[in-house]
Parts: sequence; structure tokens; C-alpha cells
Amino acid sequence: MLLKLAILISGRGSNMRAILNAVKKQGIPINPVVVISNKPTAGGLRIAKKYGVKTEIVESKGFQGTRWEYDQKIIHVLSKYDITPKNSLICLAGFMRILSPEFIKKFKNRILNIHPSILPAFPGLDAQRQAIESGVSHSGCTVHFVDEGVDTGQIIVQETVKIKNDDTEETLSKRILAKEHKAYVKAVKLIAEKKINVTGRKVKFLA
Ligand code: GAR
Repeated sequence: MLLKLAILISGRGSNMRAILNAVKKQGIPINPVVVISNKPTAGGLRIAKKYGVKTEIVESKGFQGTRWEYDQKIIHVLSKYDITPKNSLICLAGFMRILSPEFIKKFKNRILNIHPSILPAFPGLDAQRQAIESGVSHSGCTVHFVDEGVDTGQIIVQETVKIKNDDTEETLSKRILAKEHKAYVKAVKLIAEKKINVTGRKVKFLA
């Protein structure tokens, strides 16, 4: 069964673009069904349309309800495209909202996130700045499953980047971003091709 792919974004969507491009060019066996943004101005929406993928906006600004109530609106959109926990992969690609525990439980081991550091180092906001300020020699990116913690889910793919003496947050972010695109594609491919087995915290890679 071909998995249905939903991508959640908030901004420029370069990771989303890398995934959609790889699905198209490398024939990754997954069906990109919808891109959902919590911001109507997200640049990624235009890119998704260029790839012929449906887009939806579930605006979060000014939403008065709870986190779970917001997430139910997302689930409503997913259902419209017949996306369920059984048939889907949901990729967070610069989606700058924390998901409710209810949503995460419902889509257990179905949600991926990309984070711009080598987790478990530097979770949360401003990961690139945290890396520079800490004086580490390397940073990078991590694709992981989403669990109830902040950037704590099982790790699937990591890529490293050497930090240069004169790196700024901007220059480091740019080099990490190039690695993010590769790492996210690798992780989506592994899942689409059913080459990953998850048991508790352990991710097993099948030949
Ligand atoms: C990426 O650098 C991603 O790692 C980061 O947001 C950027 C989104 O860029 N995500 C996080 O920091 C999540 N904690 P994109 O919209 O061009 O893919």
C-alpha cells in the first residue's frame, strides 16, 4: 500500500520542496496528497501548487481554542483527503507549532520532524545559535519521529556539518539547511519503502 504523504509547513518550505522534488524525480513510492500551512502567507504554498499538490490553510493566528482543538481542525482536513493513522506519513517541515499529545498519540510513529541540530544536543528554538554559542566543533540536523517531548522522538537520520571559526547563525544555518534537504529525503524514502521497524525507542533499519 502506497502511503499518503501530508506535509505541514509554516514558511518558505525548502524541506517540503526537497521532498516533493525527490518523490517526483527519484520515484519514491509515496503519494504526496496535501500541504497544510498554519500561515496563509507561507511561501511554501506556492511551491506545493507548482508540484501539483493540494494546499490547505488552517490559520493558527487568533485561534482561541486549545492546542487539541486546533489539531482537530488539522485532522478534519486530513480526513477530507482520506488520510488516517493507518495509511499516512505526516512530515513537519518548518511547522512552527507544538502538536497536542492527543494528535501525537493518534498518529503514533507516523509523524516526522526535521530539526537543525544533532539531537539530543540543542533541542527547541534557535538550534543553530545554540550550537555556535556552545563552542562545539560540529552541528547538523536530525530527522526524528515526533513524540510528546520537544525534539525527543526516535532518531532516523542525522547529518553533520563542521562549524567554522567565522560562522554566524546565518552561514551555519545555510550549510545545515543543505544537509536537511538530503536527510529528510533519506528518511522519507526509508519509510516509504518500509525499511524501518520501530520498537519502543529503537529504530531498526531493514536491508
Ligand atoms: C528548517 O531549518 C528546519 O530545520 C527548522 O525550520 C526550518 C524550516 O525551513 N525547523 C525547526 O527549527 C523545528 N524545530 P524550510 O521552511 O525552508 O523547510
